[in-house]
Amino acid sequence: MSFSQTALLALASASLWYPALCKQVWPNARTDRLEWLLYEQLGGYASPGIAFFVHDCVGIGNETQGISFGAEWLRNAYHDMSTADTIAGTGGLDGSIIYELDRAENVGHAFMETRDSFSGLVTTRSSLADLYALGAVFAVGACSNGSMIIPLRAGRIDAREAGPSGVPEPQQDLATHTASFARQGFNATEMIELVACGHTIGGVHGIDFPEIVPFVPNDDPDDEHTSTFDTTTRFFENKVATEFISNTTKNPLVSGANVTTRSDDRIFNSDGRVTMRKLAQSNDYFASRCSTLLERMLNTVPKEVVLTEPIDYYPVKPRAAQVDINADGTMTFSGVIRVEDALLASPNTQVRLHFVPRNGSQCSDATPCSVTNGIAGNFEHANCVYTKCPATFSFFEYSLVVPSEQGASSFMVEIVNGGTGASVIHDNNGNGFPTGESLQPQYKLSTQETFLIPGPDNTFSSKQQLNLTVAVLNAEQFTNVTAIFYEHKIPGVNTGGWTTDSVELTLSQKVEGTNFTYYTTSYARMFNDAIGAHPFDLVATGPGVSVSNEFIDWNGFTSIM
Ligand SMILES: *[C@@H]1O[C@H](CO)[C@@H](O)[C@H](O)[C@H]1NC(C)=O
Ligand SMILES: *[C@@H]1O[C@H](CO)[C@@H](O)[C@H](O)[C@H]1NC(C)=O
Ligand SMILES: *[C@@H]1O[C@H](CO)[C@@H](O)[C@H](O)[C@H]1NC(C)=O
Ligand SMILES: *[C@@H]1O[C@H](CO)[C@@H](O)[C@H](O)[C@H]1NC(C)=O
Ligand SMILES: *[C@@H]1O[C@H](CO)[C@@H](O)[C@H](O)[C@H]1NC(C)=O
Ligand SMILES: *[C@@H]1O[C@H](CO)[C@@H](O)[C@H](O)[C@H]1NC(C)=O
Ligand SMILES: *[C@@H]1O[C@H](CO)[C@@H](O)[C@H](O)[C@H]1NC(C)=O
Ligand SMILES: *[C@@H]1O[C@H](CO)[C@@H](O)[C@H](O)[C@H]1NC(C)=O
Ligand SMILES: *[C@@H]1O[C@H](CO)[C@@H](O)[C@H](O)[C@H]1NC(C)=O
Repeated sequence: MSFSQTALLALASASLWYPALCKQVWPNARTDRLEWLLYEQLGGYASPGIAFFVHDCVGIGNETQGISFGAEWLRNAYHDMSTADTIAGTGGLDGSIIYELDRAENVGHAFMETRDSFSGLVTTRSSLADLYALGAVFAVGACSNGSMIIPLRAGRIDAREAGPSGVPEPQQDLATHTASFARQGFNATEMIELVACGHTIGGVHGIDFPEIVPFVPNDDPDDEHTSTFDTTTRFFENKVATEFISNTTKNPLVSGANVTTRSDDRIFNSDGRVTMRKLAQSNDYFASRCSTLLERMLNTVPKEVVLTEPIDYYPVKPRAAQVDINADGTMTFSGVIRVEDALLASPNTQVRLHFVPRNGSQCSDATPCSVTNGIAGNFEHANCVYTKCPATFSFFEYSLVVPSEQGASSFMVEIVNGGTGASVIHDNNGNGFPTGESLQPQYKLSTQETFLIPGPDNTFSSKQQLNLTVAVLNAEQFTNVTAIFYEHKIPGVNTGGWTTDSVELTLSQKVEGTNFTYYTTSYARMFNDAIGAHPFDLVATGPGVSVSNEFIDWNGFTSIM
């Protein structure tokens, strides 16, 4: 957006004023949820902190027991993907592994643990398959100390049932493995590379594979009898190759006592060690081959799936926005602005919001914007689980009251450098950040309660009751105001798609002194899975007109996300 001279004069309080460049336009239904999970890994504003599971690669796994969550999340993604048939365009990373856990090819706790770690984060905008890809990205990032950040695309669709079997197993011969990797889209060289990339972290657990790593019972019930693939099991680097080439490897799939299960030995030697020698010679080469092949692995999806571009972060992103209609004919816009720390380098940098009135498309003399005070303090900080984080973020809370007749269709974010006073305007690529004022849940007028319902034999189940009030602007134009609720088809595991429940809201009352009307409804659901997994949509329709407000979080009625 380029500002006209009048806009510039009307807006500018600082001597320097220029728009910032940002490629992305907010909101983006396909990527915003994953952008949040990917870039606010730890310590952010309402971050689920899932990445903490893989901090220092092993994360909350107990290294002495040989459990590595980094290795689990990477292995989980490979096993889910590896039943793909890339010629037919079927299978791939589609979450089907949750239906395949009883197969011999998926032995071990890793897959159930990964499912249980991520299933609470499944929403209509974050499939389990996308979360599995996210987990693999976190794992490789954490295990490589931030030196390998695999680009993440969104849009994977969860399978509704088990797929064919076909995960490579260690007792299979080289011809079987070569054919299996070819089916997955990796040629014989890439098979060697991908196996080396997968086997630079973690190891083989004797508890799961006693035929490979002898399981000798001892006094420690937690001992999984793990034999690691290389001597630096918590680092994603080329030791798996250097130790192989120097013949010092303790990788049980290379030098284990059981010759039948030495699959890595057969694979690594399959081209006369040419590929393994290259990987051993340069860790940079190893990292670059692994990044390329692991990215391809994550992007192996059924042919009907269309993935997005790699998810980039927004330098400036609105969060937790609320629009409240007040009894005195005013309205309050409040929320949080997330700002990339690189934009806040100078101390006392301030953030100011310019709200464009409903009757204007930008700030001008004819439609002057209302401006918040400069917000200096920030109260949270989002970070990565690994060093070399692409961006860290701070958060700024705002609140502005305007006459409801004036309203606000959108806002722009001005960042005023604390040292020079120079201003940069972030205008969402020329669009402004929409407020969505015309159809808004009224958090202060809504309630959410959880009841225990007695069942047979002293059992209880929980019921969640949402009493929802929504403010609708110029409601005369609409014939239908509806809330659409989503429930998991398979609660608990949280996958298999969604059932939808459309509930028409009832006109309640016009709000005195404004053009807003309240609509209400009451909605109850059984509370058997994560409360945050059920964002709902609002849709208002009338002759030739339709307005919506999507992905409203249940949590918003208790703690605003
Ligand atoms: C890790 O495992 C060891 C050996 O089994 C045990 O003694 C220790 O308490 C465990 N530590 C944690 C933090 O679970
Ligand atoms: C596998 O593909 C790569 C890249 O296209 C190529 O360099 C390599 O020679 C191929 N290997 C085999 C065995 O075909
Ligand atoms: C070696 O592994 C194969 C394949 O899993 C198994 O059938 C065989 O019993 C194992 N041999 C020993 C000595 O454990
Ligand atoms: C490692 O073993 C291979 C195969 O037995 C042999 O060709 C090679 O010379 C050995 N390398 C070293 C460094 O000992
Ligand atoms: C990880 O990288 C950081 C620099 O980004 C470095 O200071 C630290 O020592 C590294 N840690 C390890 C274990 O290599
Ligand atoms: C209500 O809408 C009408 C028609 O757009 C407008 O003239 C009037 O100023 C509005 N009143 C308020 C209080 O917003
Ligand atoms: C737009 O609304 C603002 C604030 O309510 C008012 O000051 C201005 O006169 C209006 N402009 C036009 C062109 O209607
Ligand atoms: C929510 O609505 C239900 C049904 O109308 C009612 O019984 C209940 O008391 C309401 N809860 C609250 C907290 O208002
Ligand atoms: C109201 O709108 C919803 C969502 O757009 C739609 O599913 C429903 O059929 C509509 N109801 C009527 C009575 O038009």
